[in-house]
Amino acid sequence: MRFTNKICLVTGGTSGIGQAACLRLGAEGGQVVALGRDKADGAETVRLITEAGGKAVFMPCDLAKPKAIEATVQKVLAKFHRVDVLVCDAAMMTFEPLAKLPLDQWDLLMQVNLRSLAQLTQLCLPHMPKGSAIVAISSVHAHQTTANVVPYATSKGGLEAFVRGMSRELDFRQTRINAVAPGAVDTPMLWSNPNVKSGKEKIDKAAVGQPEELAAAIAFMASAEASFIHGTTLAVDGGRLAQL
Ligand SMILES: NC(=O)c1ccc[n+]([C@@H]2O[C@H](COP(=O)([O-])OP(=O)(O)OC[C@H]3O[C@@H](n4cnc5c(N)ncnc54)[C@H](O)[C@@H]3O)[C@@H](O)[C@H]2O)c1
Repeated sequence: MRFTNKICLVTGGTSGIGQAACLRLGAEGGQVVALGRDKADGAETVRLITEAGGKAVFMPCDLAKPKAIEATVQKVLAKFHRVDVLVCDAAMMTFEPLAKLPLDQWDLLMQVNLRSLAQLTQLCLPHMPKGSAIVAISSVHAHQTTANVVPYATSKGGLEAFVRGMSRELDFRQTRINAVAPGAVDTPMLWSNPNVKSGKEKIDKAAVGQPEELAAAIAFMASAEASFIHGTTLAVDGGRLAQL
């Protein structure tokens, strides 16, 4: 029980990897605060955790809206007074070549994937005690990518640079920050990806990870077992980045 009585704030807590992270943190004693846009899916995350004996609440929050992010963090602090673990998981993708991409889509994606991470970090940090941790979810696309996902790949490269840079501004005994970079994982985001559907991005179905395998890595990076790990990215990809 590595997270007993720890307040664990997770974006993207209503599906896929974020939901699996909520379940794992909740199963290990954490008080989960799952953020997301869909109330029914949020209620399902809470149900799964509480029926297993854990503690969880859902708070709606659209990461496209900075004011909603601020209001949500205020609500979290009013209720729980601190944040021990911040998992920034939620993200979106676009699938246009840059030449055709309306730049308001670029701005929206950067808001959801990157600016929200900066804002949540800024808002939560003053309330993160000794031994706290931030885990940001990157992607193998920060390192190797395909056509038509330039904003997404850029946001994930930026996310990893953010983690490195922030590690220089933080005392790792107070708050550690790291990233986890998934490879292909069995979630709605993977199978709804037009590049995957068309075969432009090749997925070996035998080499697709499960959300729980990512949740295990996220929980490790957030736990005291990772107390000397700071400013780095852990690839959790079944070896995908090592392939020629
Ligand atoms: N599944 C994969 O193959 C894969 C691979 C590499 C990286 N990732 C990363 O893993 C993370 C989780 O993705 P997933 O695979 O679990 O997919 P998912 O679609 O299940 O989760 C993405 C989550 O982001 C949320 N989200 C999107 N826009 C939002 C907004 N404006 N406000 C609030 N929430 C918003 C969605 O509602 C959803 O809950 C993402 O950061 C993604 O980039 C996934």
